[in-house]
Amino acid sequence: MHVINGPNLNMLGKREPEIYGSLGLDEINRELTVAAKDLGLELAFFQSNHEGVILDRIHEIFEANPVGIIINPGALTHTSVALRDGLLLLSCPIVEVHLSNIHKRESFRHKSMLADIATGQLTGFGHYGYHMALNAIHQFLQTV
Ligand code: DQA
Repeated sequence: MHVINGPNLNMLGKREPEIYGSLGLDEINRELTVAAKDLGLELAFFQSNHEGVILDRIHEIFEANPVGIIINPGALTHTSVALRDGLLLLSCPIVEVHLSNIHKRESFRHKSMLADIATGQLTGFGHYGYHMALNAIHQFLQTV
């Protein structure tokens, strides 16, 4: 299973901690790795600040027949038709995660280019949202 984080999420812990929390991305990923192991799943992590680099990664993931994707696209959520089109390649479950509740924030964050193509969206649960996404995909895989 793949976990993709977009622009500025490498700065978690330092970036607006009152909104995004005090944990860094490495810590979040470490905890998630442990949780995944307990579920018998292996995670591959990827973060980039560059839209095209994320698309290249999604294309690689597509070729490898993924079982699930957890993605926090950061600001690309609200702007990127290219990311939406790239994710449409995939037929596995895709869970969109946001640490903050995008619907409670500025109106430009209310629109997600992915919301209607993702399997589901988890927004506003801080880093725990990644764990919820992991559990959701795990559950999904049990039932197919
Ligand atoms: C975010 C919300 C986005 O609006 C913002 O641009 C981010 C982080 C979140 O996790 O809450 O970079 O995706």
